[in-house]
Amino acid sequence: MLKKISGLKKGLIGEIIIPADKSISHRAIMFSSLAKGSCIINNFSGGADCRSTLEIFKELGTDISYTDSKTVKINSDGKLHKPSASLYAGNSGTTTRLISGILAGQNFDSVITGDESLSKRPMKRIITPLSFMGADIESNDGYLPLVIHGKELTGINYESKLASAQVKSCVLLAGLKASGKTTYTEPYRSRNHTELLLDYLGADIKVDGTSVTVCPSELSSKDITVVGDISSAAFFIVAGLITPKSDILMKNVGLNPTRAGIIDIVNRMGGDIEIVDKNIISGEEAGNIRVRYTENLKPCVIEGNDIPRLIDELPVIAVLASQAEGQTVIKNAEDLRNKESDRITSLVSELVKIGIDIEERTDGFVIHGKSKIKGDAILDSKNDHRLAMSFYVAGLVSEQEIGIEGFEWTKISFPEFEELMLNLMTN
Ligand code: S3P
Repeated sequence: MLKKISGLKKGLIGEIIIPADKSISHRAIMFSSLAKGSCIINNFSGGADCRSTLEIFKELGTDISYTDSKTVKINSDGKLHKPSASLYAGNSGTTTRLISGILAGQNFDSVITGDESLSKRPMKRIITPLSFMGADIESNDGYLPLVIHGKELTGINYESKLASAQVKSCVLLAGLKASGKTTYTEPYRSRNHTELLLDYLGADIKVDGTSVTVCPSELSSKDITVVGDISSAAFFIVAGLITPKSDILMKNVGLNPTRAGIIDIVNRMGGDIEIVDKNIISGEEAGNIRVRYTENLKPCVIEGNDIPRLIDELPVIAVLASQAEGQTVIKNAEDLRNKESDRITSLVSELVKIGIDIEERTDGFVIHGKSKIKGDAILDSKNDHRLAMSFYVAGLVSEQEIGIEGFEWTKISFPEFEELMLNLMTN
């Protein structure tokens, strides 16, 4: 679907409620299915990725039903059951990598498949540590489909070169059912939703710096309320900062420090951002974010331990940096090439078409601001939800119209995106 967007004459003004966090929604379904008993998940994500997880756990025998569009009821006997068909993870890397850790230690075999994009994403990063634990996994040379032959697993002490929450979570989930303890160490701290939610549900889990240790544990059922997704809020944070006359209040945003890197970056760039009314919801920090148009944004360097704290926000941060005065450098972000598309090549190839001065590097990009976004081009989202939404944000300040090919892929994480944007345009 081709979406057309052209520069706004007035600002984005008003209040919006940011929909549920995708990472936490996945984990809420998975961990509640492993716990014996009943619970309610409030504010479950409406994105297609989380729906893939939900359907897979139904296939694995958990009784899961919607009581309304955002509320899910789970009733589990605490065990998973042999699926009668292969498990289709759609576009979702989180679903695939986390359930692999869960399935590797079951007493049945299972097969995981996915769409075209997911089938190009590397799975060796999980197959390697799981194999050290005794897992028996066949793959298509490190890619989907995965054939997982359930086995008894043994705990390991694993040092990862990647700061990846998906790999970390996969190993920790395998560790829940393995004999002995499992310790996972990462170079920088990646998002810690797995650690927080496992702790909330009573698992034996301990964090020491960048190491996490889990011992075999039974989980208890407990209601979970999912906070809003800061990765979704990111599009509105950038839109508000770069669109003249804007003033946006985003309510119910997750502010977990391992996810909130974009807020630090906006502060470094001198953006007008304020955090108010902080609280804790089901073990996660949350609050409201207010952003206002900022004329003189400064450039910055984004690298090292910044990266895992804002990995999904880098495409829209590139759009933000294009409106700052000077050179912004993003490095150590090579894993962006392994996301729903190669987000380095795709972003650079499309943003230059509309007049943004951005150069590709092996591990990131360099943006020379301030660029006049001239528009008058059709950008290919490469069927990548975050690219589609980032291009839309660029379109808000474009001189001429921008077309976005594949805009329907926003349904993967944020089906409400355009409706919320349109609400702010009419105030
Ligand atoms: C996620 C972790 C990140 C992120 C993805 C969701 C998660 O991936 O890009 O969108 O929920 O654990 P990596 O951990 O592989 O960087």
